[in-house]
Amino acid sequence: MVEHDIVIVGGGLAGLSAALNAAPGLDIAVISKVHPLRSHSVAAQGGINAALGNHPEGRDDSWERHAFDTIKGSDYLADQTAAELLCQQAIPMLYELEHLGVPFSRFPGGVIAQRPFGGAGFPRTCYAADRTGLVLLHTLYEQTLSKDVHFYEEWLVTNLVVRDGRCYGLVAYDLQSGEIIPIKARAVIFATGGYGRVYQKSTNALINFGSGIGLAYRAGIPLKDMEFVQFHPTSLYGKNILITEGARGEGGYLINNQGKRFMADYAPSAMELAPRDIVARAIQTEIQKGRGFEGEYVYLDLRHLGKEKIMKRLPGIREICLYFGGLDPIEEPIPIQPAQHYSMGGIDVNEKAASPVEGFYAAGECSCVSVHGANRLGGNSLLEAVVFGKIAGLSASEYVQESQGEDRAARLVNEAAAQLKERINQWLSKESRGNVYQLFHRLKKIMMEKVGIFREKGPLAEALEEIGELRHRYHQLALRSDCLQFYQELVTMMEFEYMLDIAEVITKGALAREETRGSHFRLDFPRRDDQNWLKHTIAEFTPKGPRLTYRPVKITRYQPQERKY
Ligand code: FUM
Repeated sequence: MVEHDIVIVGGGLAGLSAALNAAPGLDIAVISKVHPLRSHSVAAQGGINAALGNHPEGRDDSWERHAFDTIKGSDYLADQTAAELLCQQAIPMLYELEHLGVPFSRFPGGVIAQRPFGGAGFPRTCYAADRTGLVLLHTLYEQTLSKDVHFYEEWLVTNLVVRDGRCYGLVAYDLQSGEIIPIKARAVIFATGGYGRVYQKSTNALINFGSGIGLAYRAGIPLKDMEFVQFHPTSLYGKNILITEGARGEGGYLINNQGKRFMADYAPSAMELAPRDIVARAIQTEIQKGRGFEGEYVYLDLRHLGKEKIMKRLPGIREICLYFGGLDPIEEPIPIQPAQHYSMGGIDVNEKAASPVEGFYAAGECSCVSVHGANRLGGNSLLEAVVFGKIAGLSASEYVQESQGEDRAARLVNEAAAQLKERINQWLSKESRGNVYQLFHRLKKIMMEKVGIFREKGPLAEALEEIGELRHRYHQLALRSDCLQFYQELVTMMEFEYMLDIAEVITKGALAREETRGSHFRLDFPRRDDQNWLKHTIAEFTPKGPRLTYRPVKITRYQPQERKY
């Protein structure tokens, strides 16, 4: 059995920020399904928001303006106390990151450079060319290595052990040895990222199955606002690799097959820099109305920016286009289409990153505080990861320092590990009837086609039924090899059940929410309905499926208004 004071699951930005900020003297471990530098945070491109006021057009910026933009962008579903905390903390956090050694791009004079991003009143997105996630992750990893933190790499966490409202630890599958390991912990922090791969088209890494969210849900921790799924407007057509919003921030145009900058019809002031929900819907509408190319994509045109600007500010985008799209954006427009990008919903936590279960915390994309409400602004996710990762590290440390360990912890985690071994043995002793990958591909397609950008009662209800059928087929599956080392089919078998849960919660929440708000667009209810739906969805696990209840949104000073851009 492995034992630590605090076990952090996930080696991306939120997890490392938690590890770095945990109290000295405590025994801290990070468990990651991949090497931490391969966590999905590494793929973040365009930047991280903070009202530093360094841009010549951003001198009047303030954390209050940042909070207002975030809340308006959220279609007023964000808890305003949480959004205010995020935006206040953004400024000291940026300087903290700078002092840790993050190599941000600079303006002449040496201050951190900032660029415009969607839905923002001022240019406030700090960046390192178009590789912001990469430099943040590398810096935090380097810093964490200099602390006494124990890393377990290529371990998949398979169970969260909770009894009587308290968390006791975890069970993990060590991919390299094939062993099942019980892990005792006085506090656990989940920083496990999003579930993008539940959708067919996603900018997310191939590891983003969302099983952390599913594990928490199955352990009795509620999920919040899961029906709000962000589609990034610009993913490279064919591969769905992210083409950063920074490309539009630097001045890129969106063009339809008539050569028109069509955003003029959807967001005449903000144009290409409207919030993502609006831009993604606009692109999808153009494609569906026959104004796209080959019925599949529109163009993002950067040619007018010129070679020098593209090479300096967007070098990674140029490489992605060259290597994965076979085109040079200096000379040709980029074919793009929307793809799933981010989960606004997640594990229900408060502003201290604490869940309703004692000793269990969550931060980053797997969690929902909620700062993003119904639609997240670009540049706010890296910010949320580092700010709430830090808060989670501090909160868990305080809890561990003030609470007593319990004798039954070892017994409970050992029992959970034994149950998992028994489950694997059952899978090994059955005849295989089908293949988990077939079900996986079917699930992604259902989610893309029926629970995507545009939603409607009929297809949502069909999706729910089909997810139920997939679950029935899942229960008939078996494993085909008893060699458990690096056994990808076993990984997928274990994670797929959580993907089904997540898909079911998203779909049920989307079906129930009879209004349009942010990323949740109901063709049959095309208006926002504050009277009935200005509230968070809370989903709790029951053996018969999610039980939905609702909770009021915290409003401070920003009264809901119609969103116009
Ligand atoms: O477009 C981007 O660079 C993505 C940024 C984000 O999701 O915050």
